[in-house]
Amino acid sequence: MLRTHTNGELRINNVNQEVTLCGWVQKKRDLGAMTFVDLRDRYGITQLVFSESQSELTMNLGREFVIQATGKVAERQSKNTNIPTGDIEIIVTSLVVLNKSKTPPFTIEDNSDGGEELRMQYRYLDLRRNPLRKNLELRHRLSIEVRKYLDSLNFLEIETPYLIKSTPEGARDFVVPSRMNAGQFYALPQSPQTFKQLLMVSGYDRYYQIVRCFRDEDLRADRQPEFTQIDCEMAFVTQEDIIQTFESLMVHLFQTTKGIDFDSFPRMCYADAMLNYGCDKPDIRFGMTFNYITELVKGKGFAIFDDAESVIAINADNCASFTRKQLDELTDFVKRPQVGAKGLIYLRCNEDGTYKSSVDKFYSEEELKKWAKQCNAKAGDLIFVLSGDLAAAQKQMNDLRLHLGNQLGLRNPDIYAPLWVYDFPLLEWNEESGRYHAMHHPFTSPKTEDLHLLETEPGKVRANAYDLVLNGTEIGGGSIRIHDRAVQSRMFDLLGFTKEEAQAQFGFLLNAFEYGAPPHGGIALGFDRLCALFGGQETIRDFIAFPKNNSGRDVMIDAPATIDKKQLDELNIKVTL
Ligand code: AMO
Repeated sequence: MLRTHTNGELRINNVNQEVTLCGWVQKKRDLGAMTFVDLRDRYGITQLVFSESQSELTMNLGREFVIQATGKVAERQSKNTNIPTGDIEIIVTSLVVLNKSKTPPFTIEDNSDGGEELRMQYRYLDLRRNPLRKNLELRHRLSIEVRKYLDSLNFLEIETPYLIKSTPEGARDFVVPSRMNAGQFYALPQSPQTFKQLLMVSGYDRYYQIVRCFRDEDLRADRQPEFTQIDCEMAFVTQEDIIQTFESLMVHLFQTTKGIDFDSFPRMCYADAMLNYGCDKPDIRFGMTFNYITELVKGKGFAIFDDAESVIAINADNCASFTRKQLDELTDFVKRPQVGAKGLIYLRCNEDGTYKSSVDKFYSEEELKKWAKQCNAKAGDLIFVLSGDLAAAQKQMNDLRLHLGNQLGLRNPDIYAPLWVYDFPLLEWNEESGRYHAMHHPFTSPKTEDLHLLETEPGKVRANAYDLVLNGTEIGGGSIRIHDRAVQSRMFDLLGFTKEEAQAQFGFLLNAFEYGAPPHGGIALGFDRLCALFGGQETIRDFIAFPKNNSGRDVMIDAPATIDKKQLDELNIKVTL
């Protein structure tokens, strides 16, 4: 080794030892009589001391130079209590510059002066910073704990292929041309879904894989085109077994990596989540649940409410003192195209017991009091009301609720509120394609008690599907699968596949179901999202060593990029841009 210790290791009891350290120059302070150099590696920072007579050693040292320093550990005169090595320093006797460095384009500090794009371009430098290092360490720790725990439960980690076949369901595929099969393409897997089901047919009754998945979809803070799942499947299980197994995995992860103990996670059916929170992944760290005041508000001459299918109110505790400006800002927020409301009605429940609303013209104080009562509002609270078609009003109110939650500091990232959401609809209507799509995926089984609705009211059929939600983010989803060929065929019919299309796309699975497919089900947890939330953040990018930017580009290696004409010819591809 070129070093005897790391830069995070030496303490007062190492004093007088001769050591050799390696690392990067974080900082140099030339005080004339002495020069101090902060030497950094991923373990920490150690102070090196050079005397005036050694100035030729240090004078050319710049930030981020890679050096090897040998010397004696000494107790510091003035200790630095902010770092674990702050009691000691190294009185350097020899120094080797292992490599020089250009001045980095931004400071390698916890709070860097570099902008997002610049730091992405020099990601290898950004990764030297503590916040990113900590994120990747957390990611490592979580993956180790996942493997340990699932191994203890007899799960086998089995790899599945990355070059597979494109399927019409789900998001868009990334495709890879095949040189040896002209005109044909592989697709990169959006998830190993069908392979893990085939593994169940093969008898590997507890499978998992920490696996890369690829989806060509619009990017957001919690979405990357390539991301990682903890993908799991079990045979001979019920939905309850899966929920309990993966709840216990999560409890283990919380315990071992965060020191937080959970007994069990609350559960909520999809219908209740939509009714009370207007979304299928409610953030239950705070209340402000929906109140439907439709019946109360109709027939008083206020056309907007009179014409609305639903009128929804939420109550913000102790917010009656919101200023005109704050209310205007909230109105602007709900009117943004992303939210899409026409306006926002409010009702102040004043401390003195009076009521003041933005629709006083239409409603008497007595009537407003009834709204407050239905919302369980007390003096000092502020009620917000949105109206419209049920689904639209729910979505808008969900946006407002989360926005208020942020504004009022009710979404503390140090508080963890996991939740199972279950009984999802099997299908959802897609306006664009004019047909039903599988809400989870086409392999999800319908609830037996809803089977009779399959032909008549398919939209009402519930699935044996469940999501794991953490702080308003969907971190996992899964289902009990169909394992019967006839039922799976019927499902493809419902989704608008012809028999031939179903056979061509999923024949391998349908065939496998004819050779003793056991009942099975599973779940996949979004590993990047899990890491980000455990790290107290919502953006997954900084929990991935080399992520893509918002346009799906890797600005460091400059991908995607064009390829040679020769390469294109080999692949039989003509680009007509
Ligand atoms: P699903 O599509 O719900 O299920 O994905 C599982 C989890 O993966 C995470 N996730 C993502 N994370 C980052 N970037 C993305 N683009 C992205 N897309 C999804 C989410 C999500 O909950 N095969 C099924 C699972 C199963 O049924 O067992 C599946 O892939 O956290």
